[in-house]
Amino acid sequence: MKINENFLKLKENYLFAEVGRKTAAYRAAHPGKEVIRLSIGDVTLPLAPAVIAAMHKAVDDMAKKETFKGYGPDATCYGYDALLDSILSSYARKGVQLGKGEVFISDGAKSDCGNILDIFSAENTVLIPDPVYPAYFDVNVMAGRNIVFAAATEENGFLPMPDESVKADIIYICSPNNPTGAAYTKTQLKAWVDYAKEQNAVILYDAAYEYFVTDESLARSIYQVEGAKEVAIELCSYSKTAGFTGVRCGYTVVPEALVRGGVSLNRLWARRQSTKFNGTSYITQMGAAAVFTEEGERQIDENINYYRNNAKIITSCLDGLGVSYTGGKNSPYIWMTCPHGMTSWEFFDYLLENANVVGTPGSGFGNNGEGFFRLTAFGTEENTREACARMTALLKN
Ligand code: MLT
Repeated sequence: MKINENFLKLKENYLFAEVGRKTAAYRAAHPGKEVIRLSIGDVTLPLAPAVIAAMHKAVDDMAKKETFKGYGPDATCYGYDALLDSILSSYARKGVQLGKGEVFISDGAKSDCGNILDIFSAENTVLIPDPVYPAYFDVNVMAGRNIVFAAATEENGFLPMPDESVKADIIYICSPNNPTGAAYTKTQLKAWVDYAKEQNAVILYDAAYEYFVTDESLARSIYQVEGAKEVAIELCSYSKTAGFTGVRCGYTVVPEALVRGGVSLNRLWARRQSTKFNGTSYITQMGAAAVFTEEGERQIDENINYYRNNAKIITSCLDGLGVSYTGGKNSPYIWMTCPHGMTSWEFFDYLLENANVVGTPGSGFGNNGEGFFRLTAFGTEENTREACARMTALLKN
């Protein structure tokens, strides 16, 4: 028996587990301190009333013989029509036409950003921005893939563009970006679509934060770019859109037009899902189906505006301190420069110990993240204000 030795190449802990471990150790050593977490992007507002009502109704359905549901429908890899239709209508409002068979319901974008690799050879080279959401890197290390990086730096506005001299088979893009908050325009994304086409590569496009986009020039979906259906798979989530971090629901779009080596990737993914997955629960799917209704969208907009206001509180605080940052607009993340030339983990410790505020060290998202620090707008307004007051007191001189 041999273990998968690729796991030995990973850091001991996943980034957010390491932040959680350090926070818990600090709390245990200082029981009287009120620690504020603006680290992992976990939501704090309850689910929208329309979602709750739909879930209650679904629970009642499960209680009656006539409406009880077992496994979801086979034909759509267990996605119910009500949810699939609502997703198609949400795409149509963004100017994107999709068919029901192109949308696969999941338990969130994180799972599928790793699961999707099942349909690709381990010999492929993967292009990952640096810094980026650490799961993309870790899942490819686990699979033993060759990884190359696209540097996201202050100079390119944290939005790397394709380099023709780099050969890639699989390309991860996250926009609006986690962790930097930077977001691609449709024109910039077109360059990535063209590059992928030339390379015969596939883009894995993470759109988990698209509901934070307000600027019309920015993409909400890669399929708003001409030709993208032939090169891109889109990963979407209800976590940040509708506060589903604890409920778990997402969807992955694999267009019919996406064919490699004469094989439909949609068919491969359907084959993989029907073997390894038994679907997202009926109650969850019914709750999610209420999100993109008129009432649901109005309610989730209110929640997203609440987080946008938190982002403004944080950026105003940083403006007052003269600390540079990106994000906070079209994104729930604020990517700040560590003050006084501190490294990311030095600043993490300094802020935790002196202000009892927890953020996420930029270096945890990649080498280019060194010297940066990520704050999230997903906290409560009260905690966000308090964290900013403490940061101001600590850093004002
Ligand atoms: C983050 O903080 O980067 C995200 O919340 C993590 C995730 O979505 O898995």
